[in-house]
Amino acid sequence: MKVIWNNEIVERSEVKIDMEDRGYQFADGIYDVVRAYNGKFFTLDEHVDRLFSSAEKIELILPFTKEELKQLLSKLIQVNEIDTGNVYMQLTRGIGIPRNHSYPDPELVPPVFTATTTLVPRDQIKMDQGMSAIIVPDLRWLRCDIKSTSLLGNIMAKHEAHKKGGDEAILHRDGVVTECSSSNVWMIKNDVIYTHPDGNLVLPGITKLMLLKVARKAGIPVKEEAFTLENLKEADEVFASSTTMEAMPITFIDGNPVGQGKRGSGVERLQQLYVDAVEEVCGKIR
Ligand code: PDD
Repeated sequence: MKVIWNNEIVERSEVKIDMEDRGYQFADGIYDVVRAYNGKFFTLDEHVDRLFSSAEKIELILPFTKEELKQLLSKLIQVNEIDTGNVYMQLTRGIGIPRNHSYPDPELVPPVFTATTTLVPRDQIKMDQGMSAIIVPDLRWLRCDIKSTSLLGNIMAKHEAHKKGGDEAILHRDGVVTECSSSNVWMIKNDVIYTHPDGNLVLPGITKLMLLKVARKAGIPVKEEAFTLENLKEADEVFASSTTMEAMPITFIDGNPVGQGKRGSGVERLQQLYVDAVEEVCGKIR
């Protein structure tokens, strides 16, 4: 399999990541993931923009322009023959010797970039049936808008959910729902769709952005407003959104059914609108 390593496409076996890389030492890095359908990227511009924005927030400079990166990524999915799959990009602050918390001089220490691909078909059954979630306190830091590789808070929450038999963790701070461990979270009450506004407490999800766009265009009422665990308990429908899951119904929370305990018509409509948007760019996907 080919991967991107800094500015080049190389065999995965050729990549040498130094043990003093700050990504390994401090999780001093950022990442992003973009999905392709039918060999074509969906929302590539938005994901590349977010990667550059995350980089800027931690004073990292990417070793190429957005255009150069998009070309490299397109070439990568071509050579790896990715039809429907994901591309993970990762950028670290490079190799810092001796180990030191302070940022090294970027003139002397270049960042390290990698990108890999995986073939991941759409999980239509899961999208129809929905998943279960467990409520977990949001113990993460206060810059969740940065798509950082420092994911301990997220993976601990996901692990907590898995231990209790759930697929995803719904996070809350003092009873206010923020997002899930690896997705944004939404609820529908009386035909109005709610999700936490962007800011420092959640990742500005690209799927969220697209869902808001298609919902508004279709005249569906949406409110970027935080909601509480109490609201969540009374929700008609709950769902999560991410690049890899699209709009995924959450049908059970802490073992209790949401509404009827199956996918509701609100999320089903959004799923269809999202698929329509994907198909406009990438062609028929079913
Ligand atoms: N996760 N919130 C968190 C904490 C996430 O990790 C993600 C994405 C999202 C949704 O963002 P988007 O719609 O842009 O994918 C929200 C990806 C899929 C991951 O880390 O693998």
